[in-house]
Amino acid sequence: TNRTFTMIKPDAVADGHTGAIIKMIEEAGFRIIALKKTQLTSEQAGKFYAVHSERPFYSSLCAYMSSGPIVPMILEKENAVADFRTLIGATNPAQAAEGTVRKLFAKSIEANAIHGSDSDENAAIEGSFFFAGVEQY
Ligand code: GTP
Ligand code: MG
Repeated sequence: TNRTFTMIKPDAVADGHTGAIIKMIEEAGFRIIALKKTQLTSEQAGKFYAVHSERPFYSSLCAYMSSGPIVPMILEKENAVADFRTLIGATNPAQAAEGTVRKLFAKSIEANAIHGSDSDENAAIEGSFFFAGVEQY
């Protein structure tokens, strides 16, 4: 098995979808390794999404991602990174497949309900951004 990192984004937490999304994640066969509720500052959101710092939507993304509580998690499953991105669907909910988390809960290309790491390497980096080593056992 391997691991991925996710966070339920501010729009979905504020709308009360945390439980429904966690239920979808567990029913898809992911085991929760670490979980908490927290809120990022704009500076912390900027650091998390530093790879997008040259994109036109970067400042809006940082404001959105720090606008309310989020629920970060480390998840474990066979083929975790790719299977999780299938479960959440395309970045733009207008293009997300039926039954995906983003199709069900995302509001826009930016307020798109959930994050999923795009590689094993980034999953480890992002998990360690939010959780101490002793929380990742
Ligand atoms: P993450 O799992 O959150 O990394 O999403 P992703 O991998 O599907 O998309 P990407 O890494 O390309 O973009 C990161 C986040 O920036 C997205 O999830 C959106 O919240 C936001 N975003 C991406 N593209 C756009 C865009 O064109 N406009 C706006 N406003 N936000 C965008
Ligand atoms: Mg991404």
